[in-house]
Amino acid sequence: METEDFIYKSKTSKILTNGAFSWQAPSNIALVKYWGKQESQIPQNASISFTLNNCHTRTKVHLDKKEKSETFTFDFTFEGKKNDAFKPKLAQFFNRIIIYVPFLKDYHLQIFSENSFPHSSGIASSASSMAALALCIMSLEKALNPEMSGTYFYKKASFLARLGSGSAARSIEGPLIVWGKHPTVDDSSDLYGVKYTKTIHKVFHNYQDTILLVDQGQKQVSSTIGHNLMHQHPFAAKRFGQANNNLTRLSEVIKTGDLEIFMQLVELEALSLHAMMMTSMPYFILMKPNTLAIINAIWEFRRVTKTPVCFTLDAGANVHVLYPEAEKIKVQSLIDAHLLPFCQKNNYICDSVGNGALEI
Ligand code: DP6
Repeated sequence: METEDFIYKSKTSKILTNGAFSWQAPSNIALVKYWGKQESQIPQNASISFTLNNCHTRTKVHLDKKEKSETFTFDFTFEGKKNDAFKPKLAQFFNRIIIYVPFLKDYHLQIFSENSFPHSSGIASSASSMAALALCIMSLEKALNPEMSGTYFYKKASFLARLGSGSAARSIEGPLIVWGKHPTVDDSSDLYGVKYTKTIHKVFHNYQDTILLVDQGQKQVSSTIGHNLMHQHPFAAKRFGQANNNLTRLSEVIKTGDLEIFMQLVELEALSLHAMMMTSMPYFILMKPNTLAIINAIWEFRRVTKTPVCFTLDAGANVHVLYPEAEKIKVQSLIDAHLLPFCQKNNYICDSVGNGALEI
């Protein structure tokens, strides 16, 4: 599908004067990372992620039809309190999507949002929050145009979410999502995420992700700035090629269940992402000493016990510890004995692979 296919064109819209729609959308953790984009949130390489189960955003949108509809208006309440700090990011999102959902101008929107994880945890909530909001908007479009197919509903939700935050395109469905055109993934697109429909080995069915909260503060450099620095980056072209190759190799591993290669590719991706940050101009480091201490402890535990446990990183200092469900007890002993002291206030979140957003 092309961009034009997402412009709302229905001539026979139903009338809706007011209403409310609610969705819960998950966070996701990329195995092959998106870092670098072109205009209109088009990724420079394809990425693939596990959808998470427990980390999610719940959003409710109340709609009231307006007399005049030239301008778009909304209020935003986050975790029970009116929140103006997020309004500029939301306003930018609405500016980007209004051409695809022009009916929004006919309503005043009241948006209520809350996260299942602590908002100061340093876990990016933009993916789950933009996805939940995009789904609420799609529920409105569906109410106006009930003939819309389920496939179109989810594709356009991902398309809209992408315009809020790139990684949000991967926070609609599950358990594995590819975003970005890639030769080995049928129907893959730069415009929206697609479900990974090839064979998934059973070891990945309930893969675990324990998120160690190393630094719960505000990041010094936002992802958006980091992405932009890839424009003049001396290694950019090589990095985009590497990511696409890693996705080709990973899709083979997802089929065979070869955890040795899985762990190698996932850790390589995490460190390549941070290597890009460290070699941008200006350069920056988001890892903290405790991030490195955790990585070394995981490597040592893996060397000694041969347990298939590995790590990945987002654009921050927190560490995602990834392992099969069958290794839960062993990895918990690693966390309790060696990793907890490196977490801020001993905090961590237990999560696992999930199946995507839910209407609530
Ligand atoms: C490091 O999606 O947060 O998490 O599109 O500017 O909102 P924007 O960036 P964002 O970038 C996240 C990148 C990443 C890797 C990934 O999730 O693929």
